[in-house]
Parts: sequence; structure tokens; C-alpha cells
Amino acid sequence: MNILLHAHSGLRYVVLGLLIAAVFIAYSNWRKGSREDSKVYLFALIATHTQMLIGLILYFMSPKVNFDLISEKVFRFYSIEHVFMMLIAIVLITLGRVRSKKLAGPEKHRTVLYFYAMALIIILAAIPWPFRNLGSGWF
Ligand code: HEM
Repeated sequence: MNILLHAHSGLRYVVLGLLIAAVFIAYSNWRKGSREDSKVYLFALIATHTQMLIGLILYFMSPKVNFDLISEKVFRFYSIEHVFMMLIAIVLITLGRVRSKKLAGPEKHRTVLYFYAMALIIILAAIPWPFRNLGSGWF
């Protein structure tokens, strides 16, 4: 549980880094009219899916997931809000990647840009940053 929690906590920075890189690359490739795919889109997808798998295991082990205490902020956050928002974000990333693969021209990058940017905003909002007082730290 401890190892998984640290992995999940640290992997957030990999996920955020790759997503931000993907958004910038998608924007610049779209403006350039590029038809080439970028591996960064795939790496960002893999990182978020790995994060989801670890998160799913944590969900069944974490003491912070408890529906009997759902009226308390921390339990509500981890039992519902965190998972729900993260799953929506991961669906968006998957959809963006799948749709972009089907497009041949520069629109493929615009698709990645829109879907990944939306997911990035949701993920930033759903991370238990220390200043939100949800009992989690920076690492
Ligand atoms: C991109 C997606 C995700 C990111 C960036 C993310 C990030 C984080 C972070 C930073 C923490 C705090 C870790 C700590 O206290 O040190 C956390 C906790 C947690 N996450 Fe996620 N998460 C993601 C997706 C998910 C998903 C999909 C699930 C469940 C299906 C999940 C379940 C949990 C649980 C249960 C905890 C609380 C663990 C505990 O402190 O006992 N996460 N997550």
C-alpha cells in the first residue's frame, strides 16, 4: 500500500509533465500543419493509464475511501470526487488519442490539443494538492 501510494503520488508529475508537453507539441504541430504523429501523445496516454491502474488498486485498500464517512470532506474527496474526475479525464485522453489516430492531416494535432488540454485542466483540479488540506503532501 505504501509503495503504491508513493508511486501514485510521484507519478502525478510524470503525468502532468507529459500532458503539458503533449499540449504544447500538439499546438505547434497543428500550427505547422504537420501530418506526423508524436510519440509524446502515446507516452502521456500510457502514463495516465498506469496512474489509473495504481489508483484502482489504492481505491480498494485506502482508509480514505469510506462511504460511511462520506459527509466528511477528505473521505468524500477520495471516495467520489478524485476518482470521478480522474476517470473523466482519462476517458478524454483515450478518446483524443483514438480519434487523432484516425485523422491523417493536421486536424489530428488539433484533436489531441482539445482533448488533452481539457483533461489536463480536470486533472489539475482533481489532484489533492497540499494547500487543499486533504491530508496529502507534494510527494
Ligand atoms: C491522472 C490521474 C490521477 C492522478 C494525477 C492522481 C493523483 C493522486 C495524488 C497526488 C494522490 C495523493 C497521494 C498522497 O497522499 O501522497 C492520490 C491519492 C489517491 N488516488 Fe489518485 N490520481 C489519479 C487517478 C486516480 C484514479 C483513477 C483512482 C481510482 C480509481 C485514484 C485513487 C486514489 C486514491 C484511493 C487515493 C488515496 C490514497 C490514500 O491516501 O490512502 N486516483 N491520487
